[in-house]
Amino acid sequence: MALGQNQLIMKLKIALLAGDGIGPEVIDQAVKVCDAIAKKFKHEIQWTPALTGAAAIDAVGEPYPDTTHEICAAADAVLFGAIGHPRYDNDPSAKVRPEQGLLKMRQKLGLFANVRPTFTFPSLIDKSPLKRERIEGTDLIILRELTGGVYFGERGRKDNGNTAFDTMIYTRAEIQRLAKKGFEMAMTRSKRLCCVDKANVLESSRLWRETVQAMEKDYPEVTVSYEFVDATAMRLVQWPKAYDVIITENLFGDILTDEASVISGSMGLMPSSSVGSKVSLYEPIHGSYPQAAGKDIANPLATVLSAAMLFEDLKLTEEAEAIRRVVNKSLSEGIVTEDVADGAKAYKTSEVGDWLAKNI
Ligand code: IPM
Ligand code: MN
Repeated sequence: MALGQNQLIMKLKIALLAGDGIGPEVIDQAVKVCDAIAKKFKHEIQWTPALTGAAAIDAVGEPYPDTTHEICAAADAVLFGAIGHPRYDNDPSAKVRPEQGLLKMRQKLGLFANVRPTFTFPSLIDKSPLKRERIEGTDLIILRELTGGVYFGERGRKDNGNTAFDTMIYTRAEIQRLAKKGFEMAMTRSKRLCCVDKANVLESSRLWRETVQAMEKDYPEVTVSYEFVDATAMRLVQWPKAYDVIITENLFGDILTDEASVISGSMGLMPSSSVGSKVSLYEPIHGSYPQAAGKDIANPLATVLSAAMLFEDLKLTEEAEAIRRVVNKSLSEGIVTEDVADGAKAYKTSEVGDWLAKNI
């Protein structure tokens, strides 16, 4: 990242990992929007595409090749589409899987915190399967631990393959660094933090609770609550406004964030960022949606809003705001893909992207 002569002009190097399924289509729209932003605000974006997922397995035999890692590590940010291919889903014996690429990438880039906001769009409130009065005004963030837990613990088979195990493992340091982000985030918001675990059963959860409790004294202004994940799963759709910042371990966060996306009305709407000590990554929370791949029907807004998070993190607040504004405008004017159109005219993925870029 370099500042131009005029301090406000940025030269950005962004690694572009389109991945699988609808990934390339939604990424294309985000690129259009970012280029329009760059033009308007006089920044320069240098995009470097790199292979990942099933696309990378097909090309070079592995889902997160070293060349891709080098491109990501040298970039100011990574914009990511989606990963996964049905060819592997029903083949438990597959030796290499696209998803391994995502996990390896998270680990090698040190992306330990996954920021997944959930909010509602005024024009879409009635698209949510949940009642308006329950969800209107929801604005919460699930901060999911991303490089530990059962995703990365020891796993295997014993007993001639008839017994399988996965291990949920956490160190105090891993919990502390995630919780620190949660406390800091709560300080910039409504100062409420909820730690979600299963401390009534799991030892790793008891370490989470103990660690977070010990940190409370450093953030006297933050009100901390503790909940068991099963109760949170229920309350999240019952009364989402009860939450502001939620911190939780990897698998619980995976499940709760899919659940939370229902509140906004479509999975195709929610962005995310993954941050660590080095480069950050921005991606929609939805998957590769293979049934829609190549049909130009997928909703690009989650990816476009992920790009807004990218600008926000680079302190380019006006740029981020311009993206959010144009997204809201497209929703209220009905320039939407079929998942949101609900019987009204549905636009193609690429048409929505063109419209957004033009209206920036
Ligand atoms: C997600 C996805 C991934 C995860 C899969 C594709 C490995 O579901 O980003 O939430 O489980 O983390
Ligand atoms: Mn998931």
